[in-house]
Amino acid sequence: MSEERILLVEDDAAQRRIVSGILAAEGYIVTEAGGIAQAIDALCTAPVDLVLSDWKLPDGDGISLLAEVRRRSIEAPFVMVTAYGTIERAVEAIRTGADDYLTKPFERRALLLAIERTLRTRRLVEENRRLAEELEERDRLVDIIGRSPAMQDLFRRVEKLAGRDATVLLIGESGTGKELVARALHQLSPRRSGPFLAVNSAAVPDGLLESEFFGVERGAFTGADRSREGKFELARGGTLFLDEIGELPFTIQPKLLRAIQEARVTRVGGASEIVTDVRLIAATNRDLPAEIAAGRFRQDLYYRINVIQLRLPPLRERSEDIQLLVEHFAARAARRHGLRVTAFSPALLKRLFDYPWPGNVRELANVVERLVILSDEGRVSEGDLPDEMAGRPKEDGGFKLPPGGVSWIEHERSCLRQALELAGGNRARAARLLDLPYKAFLYRLEKHGIRASDS
Ligand SMILES: Nc1ncnc2c1ncn2[C@@H]1O[C@H](COP(=O)(O)OP(=O)(O)OP(=O)(O)O)[C@@H](O)[C@H]1O
Ligand SMILES: [Mg+2]
Repeated sequence: MSEERILLVEDDAAQRRIVSGILAAEGYIVTEAGGIAQAIDALCTAPVDLVLSDWKLPDGDGISLLAEVRRRSIEAPFVMVTAYGTIERAVEAIRTGADDYLTKPFERRALLLAIERTLRTRRLVEENRRLAEELEERDRLVDIIGRSPAMQDLFRRVEKLAGRDATVLLIGESGTGKELVARALHQLSPRRSGPFLAVNSAAVPDGLLESEFFGVERGAFTGADRSREGKFELARGGTLFLDEIGELPFTIQPKLLRAIQEARVTRVGGASEIVTDVRLIAATNRDLPAEIAAGRFRQDLYYRINVIQLRLPPLRERSEDIQLLVEHFAARAARRHGLRVTAFSPALLKRLFDYPWPGNVRELANVVERLVILSDEGRVSEGDLPDEMAGRPKEDGGFKLPPGGVSWIEHERSCLRQALELAGGNRARAARLLDLPYKAFLYRLEKHGIRASDS
């Protein structure tokens, strides 16, 4: 018997009863909602494994519900029910992020099939994600890279701090390596054989954060069909990483403060206190003193977590690390995709040095992986840089017509030859350099009687 939880959204009470009965008979745990507002309430109190929603609801349509669910980063699969003959709606639902649809009237078998199929697909996706994360995990144990004085200084402090149980606050822009450092602090600590668990305040819906942190007692609210341990309990003997702490809703801050101060938690709906044993590491890319001034973050909580502060410098302040990082990520990408490690030309490296990297190391890793994947026979090309980095002048092409004019035909011929040369004779890449469709490029080569090898 399945124990999966389904949220059934349908305003017609009679219909709802029938569908709910069919699902319950299969062992699904069904929560019912008569409209959008009720559905959102239910989703914010207890997680579900699938949402089955009618299109026509008293307070809006199913698409609005679906959009709201995704906006709140609730990832439960969504099956939309539409009336017979309204296939456009079904298509629209799929485009908006629904996983499947059912047309009314449906039979018991069709309903159960759609639900099983959707749940099975979701389980596969999650299994894949878990495997990918495990692979990633292995990479993460590899050293943090950085030879710049700022990073060397950081390494020394990480080594010193790792052995202590003090709370550490990591600050730095997105992609600077906060999570990597948090993991390193754990790996180098006496708690290394314990778990490293994270709670990301930005990713967990507000209404679920409390039970995520502190756990929930069976029957605490409708849908709490079993007791669950919170992350404070699950991380016993290890490290709890409070990621994006700046996004923590104000209302939950006193509860977190209490848990830290007293090293005890109470499950939602529970009566007894549970003693915790965790080392805390918090991270944020926000300016917490400014958040305090704006009344969004509690000063007392800030003092509690800001015992020792480590700042991760943005990549643009340490360009001496770029080359090492490029080599590291190129080797990793080559390994991952079974390609040869590629050499980066000095011109390309200069482009990487000069770019301000707003997404920091994460962005650099992605760009390098892309260059390696698109590389040709081990050669990476500037032409494969993403558009926002290519510095390719868009509107007027940056080309200034000289007062005496030009011969158009000569100019075109010269552009074609230069593009081929820059692309090392690779015609697809040369076409991209001129922002031309491949066929249009070939047509022009032919027109000018240029063969790729002539260039
Ligand atoms: N110094 C480094 N050496 C090697 N890899 C790094 C380094 N810094 C960051 N990375 C890699 O860059 C990616 C982003 O790092 P991480 O997730 O730790 O950043 P973050 O600061 O937590 O970002 P966000 O604020 O967006 O969550 C990861 O894949 C990480 O492995
Ligand atoms: Mg992070």
